[in-house]
Amino acid sequence: MNASSLILSLGPFQGITDAPFRNVFKRHFSGIDKFYTPFFTGIHKEEHAKNLQGEEIDPKCNDVETLTPQILSTDADEILRFARQCQQLGYKEINLNMGCPFPRVANKKRGCGLLPYPEKVEAMFEAVFEQIGDMKFSVKCRLGYFSPDEIEAILPIFNRFPLSELIIHPRIGKQLYKSEADVERFKALTPYINAPLVYNGDIVSVESYCRINEIINDGPSTPSTGSGTEGSGTLINHFMLGRGILANPFLAEEIKNDLADARGVADARGASLQGKTERLHNFVLDLYEDRLHHAGGSPKVLGRMKELWSYLMNDFEEPQAVWRKIKKINALKEYEEAVEEIFKNNNIIL
Ligand SMILES: Cc1cc2nc3c(=O)[nH]c(=O)nc-3n(C[C@H](O)[C@H](O)[C@H](O)COP(=O)(O)O)c2cc1C
Repeated sequence: MNASSLILSLGPFQGITDAPFRNVFKRHFSGIDKFYTPFFTGIHKEEHAKNLQGEEIDPKCNDVETLTPQILSTDADEILRFARQCQQLGYKEINLNMGCPFPRVANKKRGCGLLPYPEKVEAMFEAVFEQIGDMKFSVKCRLGYFSPDEIEAILPIFNRFPLSELIIHPRIGKQLYKSEADVERFKALTPYINAPLVYNGDIVSVESYCRINEIINDGPSTPSTGSGTEGSGTLINHFMLGRGILANPFLAEEIKNDLADARGVADARGASLQGKTERLHNFVLDLYEDRLHHAGGSPKVLGRMKELWSYLMNDFEEPQAVWRKIKKINALKEYEEAVEEIFKNNNIIL
């Protein structure tokens, strides 16, 4: 695969990758081709649902060509209301979250909690596809909630419908985000999936991207059974980045630079550690100012900045020392001073 055929997307993170994050990220870093909103819920009205009025989805604040709004729902009517309103705003695709593992969601048969119930998924998809028209509909899921075998019963249903994309994070819900993503299991599924397939999970460095890509695309492929129910087994060229890019915002451009064989003569912006420190520092400052501006100067922005720092701390030689400085902060001034101090006195290791 070359750099131009590779698609990298930024996975949605509730409480982190909102519109200010996405927009500031785009000003400071490159390499991401597609974005997804963190999930929406509670679309109660046919028109102008309250939570579809803000900057999170407003086309004035977002690029409708590269952003896919996501919904967490099991109600076909609600999904259709969401699709229609997103379409009116100019979006071309919506994504259904069938991956959220948190017990308060999954225990209600929502998110990945829906995966053990193929008959429910089928009824919901029938109702959605009957009326969704030309709005594209994609799905983000796991291998299952209780067991990785659950996906086997769900795939024939996914294959019955023209999903615009299927993003699979090869963990089960009960694992939450712990232990390793099962890349081999993902690979074994690839010949049996009709929709354009996206891999998500544990890409934290150029090396891990290369390793995962090699397993998925270069290893021996499962032979076709000729039953006509399996997909074409084509190259997987779309990878969704998650916690790896929250920790290292240079990750997408590093992967693409590496593919373009530009390592070492890298893009001057990312070449030196000092250059990277400056870029990371500017990004963090810009994001904070943007959030503060949108929040009318309220200290509530600290929650989201701290959440991001729980990943960014890993960029520094002594992550725990950095985290200790950030986690206890509850005033804006303290935060501003701590960030300056961190960048002045701590080496980054990216
Ligand atoms: C705090 C947190 C919030 C998340 N919010 C969402 C979300 O709103 N929608 C979604 O599809 N996935 C969500 N995810 C999952 C990530 O998008 C991604 O699939 C996951 O981190 C696995 O990828 P990774 O191993 O590369 O991190 C969230 C994950 C975390 C840790």
